[in-house]
Amino acid sequence: MKERFNRHRRLRHTGAIRSLVRENTVSADDFIYPIFVTTGTDVKDEISSMPGVYHYSLDRLEQEIAECAALGIKAVLLFGVPDTKDSIGSSAYNSEGIVQQATRLIKQWAPQMIVVADTCLCQFTDHGHCGVIVEDSNGAAYIDNDQSLDLLVKTAVSQAEAGADIIAPSNMMDGFVAAIRAGLDAAGFKHIAIMSYAVKYASAYYGPFREAAHSAPQFGDRKTYQMDPANAREALREASSDVQEGADFLMVKPALAYMDIIRQLRDQYLLPIVAYNVSAEYSMVKAAAANGWINEQAVVLETLTGMKRAGADIIITYHAKDVIRWLRGDN
Ligand code: PBG
Ligand code: ZN
Repeated sequence: MKERFNRHRRLRHTGAIRSLVRENTVSADDFIYPIFVTTGTDVKDEISSMPGVYHYSLDRLEQEIAECAALGIKAVLLFGVPDTKDSIGSSAYNSEGIVQQATRLIKQWAPQMIVVADTCLCQFTDHGHCGVIVEDSNGAAYIDNDQSLDLLVKTAVSQAEAGADIIAPSNMMDGFVAAIRAGLDAAGFKHIAIMSYAVKYASAYYGPFREAAHSAPQFGDRKTYQMDPANAREALREASSDVQEGADFLMVKPALAYMDIIRQLRDQYLLPIVAYNVSAEYSMVKAAAANGWINEQAVVLETLTGMKRAGADIIITYHAKDVIRWLRGDN
């Protein structure tokens, strides 16, 4: 006679059965690893709020890239920390800019390594905003959308010329995918994909990154271009525009507080979905682990597996190297 309840525990009985029925896993293939590149020589400086994450000068970068390649990391996301800034972010679209130089070198050292270039202006502008500042009719500073687009297109094209494989625009201007797609196509880069930061919230979770990238806005905030964390339908409008404009990947950023958005994009769109496990998500785990309050390895694996379960195909994470070592059983 059939029992009146279900025995779910049958499928949890042993480790072997649990792995047989496991629905989601994380592996090196899922990761994009962010790297901060800077000017100067012999620089490998740890970012104080992000233990284990460094600024590298170009002469110290080769070893880091070799280490990533040896671990099986397939893609790195480059952030530049330049030595000169101005109001229009000129060093972002200079062929000798720090990101352009690093890209050329990485493609020489490790041609198979996918170089994803972050396309934004905030590290390169003296005011720290992601676009061009103008005065609105009341005399208040405002980020001009269309003037910013021109500079972002120049940045993307110069990154592609340097050898970047994927352009990842994080600036949240309207129409950036269409503008960058047209600019890349016109410059002969039809084959270069755009990984759109389609849904990027005005988040407090970027704090450690802004310290690392020296990119905090010098006045105001980013709320006129980045999204309000309270909104989900707006995320679908943003994603839908980017799909129409020709994005090849859709990113949700941050990840942890926005798992519902990852799931909705997964269900509504057919493009690869990217979750950005951002700087403060990393720092919080590192701080708690350093205090002995959590089991770092277990917490990180659970969190990243949760992002996969929510629907992410790809995860940008500062934990990538550690996770791969754990999965290999190195420590
Ligand atoms: C710049 C940019 C930011 C991040 C990636 N690109 C910061 C911001 O928008 O203020 C955040 C990454 C992180 O916190 O790890 N457009
Ligand atoms: Zn920016």
